[in-house]
Amino acid sequence: KLPPRVKLVDVGPRDGLQNEKQAVPAEVKIGLVHRLQEAGLKEIEVTSFVSPKWVPQMADNAEVMHGLRRQAGVRYSVLTPNMKGFEAAIAAPREEWPDEIVVFGAASEAFSQKNINCSIAESIERFRPVAEAAREKGIYVRGAMSCTVGCPYEGEIAPERVGMLAKLMKDIGVQHVGVADTIGVGTPLKVRRALEATLAHYGIDDISGHFHDTYGQALSNTLASLELGVWQFDTSVGGLGGCPFAKGATGNVATEDVVYMLHGMGIETGIDLDKLIDAGVYINQALGREPNSRVSKAIRTK
Ligand code: HMG
Ligand code: MG
Repeated sequence: KLPPRVKLVDVGPRDGLQNEKQAVPAEVKIGLVHRLQEAGLKEIEVTSFVSPKWVPQMADNAEVMHGLRRQAGVRYSVLTPNMKGFEAAIAAPREEWPDEIVVFGAASEAFSQKNINCSIAESIERFRPVAEAAREKGIYVRGAMSCTVGCPYEGEIAPERVGMLAKLMKDIGVQHVGVADTIGVGTPLKVRRALEATLAHYGIDDISGHFHDTYGQALSNTLASLELGVWQFDTSVGGLGGCPFAKGATGNVATEDVVYMLHGMGIETGIDLDKLIDAGVYINQALGREPNSRVSKAIRTK
């Protein structure tokens, strides 16, 4: 049975922009978050507190958090890979703290090394105090699990390895995990197996799907997840994005395309598709491109 309602987390300001070579002004990032909440998004992944040497685009994290005009009922999340990142995320006054932080690990050793410069086991030891400190302060702890179906360096990833990572996340107090197809190589049955391996450790309300659309499979993978009962997904307005440490990976599935599919299936999202399309046009104009969303294009040229 399909879920009657789906929650989408727009990761455009973070996952979407982190890979952009051209510096995007903080003001534009803030403008994007405002347009997303205006369109009805109830959770937005705003930025990441990572090394500015590794990801220069996110160096304005504190400025972006400071500039947000927060809307009641909207949750704002940020990536914090270690205590240094967590401390930076809560260095501001409390009203500028994120509602949720994200620790991010990988089911592949090689990707863990490339992305966060440590092994899977070491990453868990870095996340442990972050999860503890966040929960102590009432900040919700989400975990992202990269390369749950395929890795750019190791190839196919067995579901057992996803299950192992999910268990490690659970053991350190991570409250929700996202099952990510970082490089978009997954197909529905493989994605299903990765989700099932995660469901051995987390309940259906505590997992989400995070699908990049590199091979054009993300909508199919979303549908396969819905059929399992998964009702939370990360998507990116205008299909922005990619990971700088995952060669060849393109953006997340476009929020517009997922909203169109869900509404067409009678599944509620609370999102206004026209306003969402405008948000995608806004950020893409700033980047000098067209939104990478078939639905956006079709509706705008109708
Ligand atoms: P490291 O080099 O192992 O850390 O980096 P370190 O503790 O040895 O510190 C080295 C330097 O980094 C020091 O500075 C630290 O102060 C600094 P230096 O003394 O050389 O001047 N540093 C920091 N600076 C700011 N904020 C911090 C921080 N930590 C250390 N938090 C680290 C480890 C994780 C920080 C680094 O590897 C890094 O920043 N990596 C970037 C990871 C990243 O942002 N990846 C993209 C996001 S993940 C993703 O896109 C996947 C996802 O979408 C799901 C999916 O699709 O799969 C979530
Ligand atoms: Mg991603």
